[in-house]
Amino acid sequence: MNKLVTTKELFKKALAEKYAIGAFNINNMELLQGIVAAGEELRSPLILQVSAGARKYANSKYLIKLSEAALETSNIPIALHLDHGEDFEICKSCIDDGFSSVMIDASKFDFEENIRLTKEVVDYAHTKGVVVEAELGKLAGIEDAVVVENANAIYTDPEKAKEFVDRTGCDSLAVAIGTSHGAYKFKTEPKLDFERLIKIKELVGWEYPLVLHGSSSVPADIVKICNDFGATIADAKGVPEDMLAQASKMGVTKINVDTDLRLAFTGQIRKFFMENPAEFDPRKYLAPARDAVKELVMRKIKVFGSENKA
Ligand code: G3H
Ligand code: 13P
Ligand code: ZN
Repeated sequence: MNKLVTTKELFKKALAEKYAIGAFNINNMELLQGIVAAGEELRSPLILQVSAGARKYANSKYLIKLSEAALETSNIPIALHLDHGEDFEICKSCIDDGFSSVMIDASKFDFEENIRLTKEVVDYAHTKGVVVEAELGKLAGIEDAVVVENANAIYTDPEKAKEFVDRTGCDSLAVAIGTSHGAYKFKTEPKLDFERLIKIKELVGWEYPLVLHGSSSVPADIVKICNDFGATIADAKGVPEDMLAQASKMGVTKINVDTDLRLAFTGQIRKFFMENPAEFDPRKYLAPARDAVKELVMRKIKVFGSENKA
């Protein structure tokens, strides 16, 4: 059977060939199937990621078994990753359950506490062959119902990033350069701090993998479908695709996408119900939602450059 791979293996090739791998959040079977179908069709490696909220919603065991089914029915490299693990216990639980990668997100703590907690997870994960993503800096936006205002976002300090990586031994680092979680990322023109990204790369090393969270593009055509069929999503703005394509060539190896999946999925369900008010078979409205996820992920794979890299 096709086996889970670690993100470390995926990142090595991505760095050498200058592309990024999409990390897509899964919460149910249809999202997972849409994502994997896209990876299969375009022969792209994939990172499936599970948040604490997803574990609570679906039960972690279901998501693991669904991922196993994806491995059994496909032959592309797939990593299973914990998204935004907030303490040692959740990371340990995922490691023990067979995830190939975990994120310890201690970015809300001060520098020393972030290092201490990250190192604790790294020390445990590495004994089990699991790799660890950490985060330094603070993204604006909404994450697990916690709202960080733009003014409280803290961009990653390149010198601190170098010290952080050296002292923790984390395998990849999520950096804050202007992206943010959710559908409302920019009040004015979208802008990422590429100079900072280059400085971080120069210090941590060009061969070291960096991660971008909060990287949905909030495509206008998909928001329009939602709004045309009853949603009230106004002034939503994401990270332009050309900026993500640029980051993918600059040593960002993992790009996180969740909001766009939600928009694509929900848009089709809204449309279906408006057009078919008498229908009530879940398969009827979940099938187009799943197809929309596939189409969206194919678009991401092309932007990130991971097509034919499986
Ligand atoms: O960054 C957070 C992801 O979008 C996961 O969101 O915690 O609502 O599952 P969630
Ligand atoms: P978006 O809200 O931009 O999709 O970000 C998702 C993310 O960072 C998951 O960790
Ligand atoms: Zn995130």
